Amino acid sequence: MAETTRPPWMFTLDGTFLGFVEADPIKAKTIRLDVDGEVLAIKLRKEVRRMLRSRLQPGDYLRCIGRSELDGDTIKLKAYQVFTLLTPLPTHVSTPPPTLKIQVCRKSGCQKRGGQQLVVALEQALRDRNLQTQVEIQYTGCQKHCSEAPTFTVSPGHHRYNRVQPSRLPAILDRHLAATKPSPGQV
Ligand code: FES
Repeated sequence: MAETTRPPWMFTLDGTFLGFVEADPIKAKTIRLDVDGEVLAIKLRKEVRRMLRSRLQPGDYLRCIGRSELDGDTIKLKAYQVFTLLTPLPTHVSTPPPTLKIQVCRKSGCQKRGGQQLVVALEQALRDRNLQTQVEIQYTGCQKHCSEAPTFTVSPGHHRYNRVQPSRLPAILDRHLAATKPSPGQV
């Protein structure tokens, strides 16, 4: 009798990157992710691993999106997209709400037109400037501006940006952060 194939299941997992399973960095393709104390092995899609191999550092907080499949008694996880998130802060630390919110489309229309590189550059710009607590990144579905992809908005104000080159991100961040600062004499 033909074996029934089970449908793959999508997953989204947030956790701390511990390192690669493979010792040889050239062959590294599976990450170890600590998700609430449970260590999971997640294989990366080829394009994703090429991009991330040299960039990931143990301790990075990641969001992995992919699908799981049952192989005998083993659940295999394969990630198709990986984002570096802002490290979750300890719950006892009270922090002010972020000043800016950036909503980035992560659907395939934008991802294929430079969206993945844009996200990498955005996360890097926030880290370089230590803005992780001031700027919140939200990943969204299609924002209905696919013909002008990649696209994102910055709030307050819901300002839309289309086809932005990663090199422009620092100037955009500076402009919006400056706009949120009270002017002299303003209470
Ligand atoms: S896919 Fe990004 S706006 Fe439609």
